[in-house]
Amino acid sequence: MQTLAQSPANVTVISDADKNETLIMPESLHTTPSIQIVDDQAANVLNGTLEAKAGARAQELEDAQFEMLEELARNAEFRDNDTGQHIERVGQLAGLVARAAGLPEQRCELIRQAAKLHDIGKIGIPDNILLKPGKLLAGEVARMRFHTIWGAKILAASRFPVIQLAAEIAMHHHERWDGTGYNGMSGERIPLAVRIATLADVFDVLTHARTYKNAWPLEYALVEIKSQSGRRFDPELVEIFLSDRFQPGLSCLQSLG
Ligand SMILES: [Fe+2]
Ligand SMILES: [Fe+2]
Repeated sequence: MQTLAQSPANVTVISDADKNETLIMPESLHTTPSIQIVDDQAANVLNGTLEAKAGARAQELEDAQFEMLEELARNAEFRDNDTGQHIERVGQLAGLVARAAGLPEQRCELIRQAAKLHDIGKIGIPDNILLKPGKLLAGEVARMRFHTIWGAKILAASRFPVIQLAAEIAMHHHERWDGTGYNGMSGERIPLAVRIATLADVFDVLTHARTYKNAWPLEYALVEIKSQSGRRFDPELVEIFLSDRFQPGLSCLQSLG
């Protein structure tokens, strides 16, 4: 083990306790700029490592938080959808529409993930309303509408962008382009990610069976989507959705069941 000590004659005495010998070194040799450079490089490497570790930790935390919320959303979904695959398909379809609309890949991925949580607020709706086969009474409709607010409340506390986007989608996925939806938001005032998720959600509900309805054939669902262009849905998104270039992806998704 080496120890350093300043001598009066501007030299440094290095004692090596293990080897039982002493070296005398001019001060200039152990204060050279090259050692300073090595120190700076080491500090940069250390900082980079710490930043990488902090980033990895934040990612782990975000993944864990998202997985927990996804599980909650899936549980909410199981109650009126036997397979629980609705949220997965809506996410996939929303991602496909976002890509077809030309959004950057990172944003498409964010939308794909966030859209899966759109109905998480259904966890707060009682079975006698959520599973009711017939028409809902006025009070039951009001209670059912509350799933958007409830969902946004569950998600809004998160600091992670994907969950913040999910909160926005949960809050507004029942808005309509013409302003006749839950909160009267209309047109481009409805965030694009929400408009995309809404289209994906409605299409998936139409084409799959629920406790209260049968699945519609694909061609019927496409006619319905077209008829809602400019009413329920953003006309530009409907155009993309119905375009020939989009249909192969749509058929592929439908074949997943
Ligand atoms: Fe909903
Ligand atoms: Fe849904």
